[in-house]
Amino acid sequence: MTSSFGSAPLLVAANRGPLSVEAVDHGEDKISRGGGGLVSGMQAALAQAPGAVWVCAALNPKERSLARQAAAGRMSSIPSVSEALHGEFEVRMLPIDAVTFRRAYNGIANATLWFVLHMLYELPHRPVFDGSWRRQWDSYVRYNRAFAEALAEEAAEGATVMVQDYHLFLVPRMLRDLRPDLRIGFFTHTSWVGPDYFTILPDDVAAAVLDGILGADLIGFHTHRWATDFAACTRAVLDRDPGEAVGVFPLGLDVEALHKRASAPDCEARLRDLREQVGDRLVIGRVDRTELSKNVLRGLLAYRELLRTRPEWLERVVHLVFNYPSREDLPEYRVYVDAVEALAVEIEEEFGTDDWSPLSLEIGHDYPGSLAALRLSDVLLVNSLRDGMNLVVLEGCVLSEREPAVVLSREAGAAEVIGALSRLVNPYDVSRTAVALHDALSEAPASRAKTAARLRADAVGIPPAEWFQAQLDRVRA
Ligand code: G6P
Repeated sequence: MTSSFGSAPLLVAANRGPLSVEAVDHGEDKISRGGGGLVSGMQAALAQAPGAVWVCAALNPKERSLARQAAAGRMSSIPSVSEALHGEFEVRMLPIDAVTFRRAYNGIANATLWFVLHMLYELPHRPVFDGSWRRQWDSYVRYNRAFAEALAEEAAEGATVMVQDYHLFLVPRMLRDLRPDLRIGFFTHTSWVGPDYFTILPDDVAAAVLDGILGADLIGFHTHRWATDFAACTRAVLDRDPGEAVGVFPLGLDVEALHKRASAPDCEARLRDLREQVGDRLVIGRVDRTELSKNVLRGLLAYRELLRTRPEWLERVVHLVFNYPSREDLPEYRVYVDAVEALAVEIEEEFGTDDWSPLSLEIGHDYPGSLAALRLSDVLLVNSLRDGMNLVVLEGCVLSEREPAVVLSREAGAAEVIGALSRLVNPYDVSRTAVALHDALSEAPASRAKTAARLRADAVGIPPAEWFQAQLDRVRA
């Protein structure tokens, strides 16, 4: 039991922090502020809460070394980091040792829990829960404990702690045991699964994960579907009903910030390039991480089938695919990216002409380019195998300067927000996805306009700062 209290009235805990530091050869460290709705939403909320602390993990050797130097682990004691934080709130980065971090983050969070929650396993081969997997699980427990202890140390008496995502499933229970006085919220940004798939996990691990989460006063999901699946798991595995502790808080957009970013000079420049590239052709756009669950490969197969079966689109459409490199330490991801690249080459070779490139696949960190692609899209394609929400499709609806039509996976959380206005597809069904693309492209802009206007309005949803505040109000009630 911790004997003394810290001083923070509000804390956020997430594996990834609001800024990242990278060592650059022959230069000053590169410090970037985290992007995305979640980070900016929480930033906005924390900035209004004096003394708030964000607890995160040091993700690379540079961050580990800075976190070790930081006075009491507080990153504001490092001048360059403090400058980037603008004094808004404090960041505590945990210098968890590299092996423990790798096993917890790669082995358990990304290669086990993420796979279970998105149903990504090829079951005849994987998973295999053996001795080496158990060592990874032990690391995950230690990594969660490091978070719980740091939070217990930083939190003022009766403080509110908002724990984020599958990296930290065990934290709510551990923290409650250390500090029964705290109000604890937990939010899962991913999808959830029903008990049949969830119980692939070893029995003790399945129980520990669910019991860990149930340590929170409030357990948030983006959709009713994921909340219902979670409750079904706690009933099946623990014979416990989470009842009122579960809440649904769909994350929406900060439209003003989004428009501002998407019209910055670097985006305008990329927009000009892309306009030149596509000419007056129709654009099918998509923006994802290079993430297995995003299902880019079947998206490309659907596009190829569209071009094969509906030759009227030859020369008249361009598919813009922007992918951010992600989780490159996992072999499955490297193999997948190779397969995506190879298929893109095949499509180009099969259909490309001197005047027309049917596909542009860009794998890299081109945020301005990806926003420009959304601005240019006639059709937005999101065919995730499973997705907590998929904010990108919501952003695309708001940013598109044409009359966007949406081809959307029925397995994405966003289907609960804009499904009625989209062409919903089964993400495994390549042929029907090709048909949906054809139908979307075929609809005249004038007839798309009404739905597009409603899409633009509905996609906004609950802006991040309000989304966060609604959870705070509920957890403190
Ligand atoms: C998903 C998860 C986040 C995670 C993000 C990027 O959106 O819900 O928790 O931060 O992916 O993944 P990464 O492994 O790069 O943090």
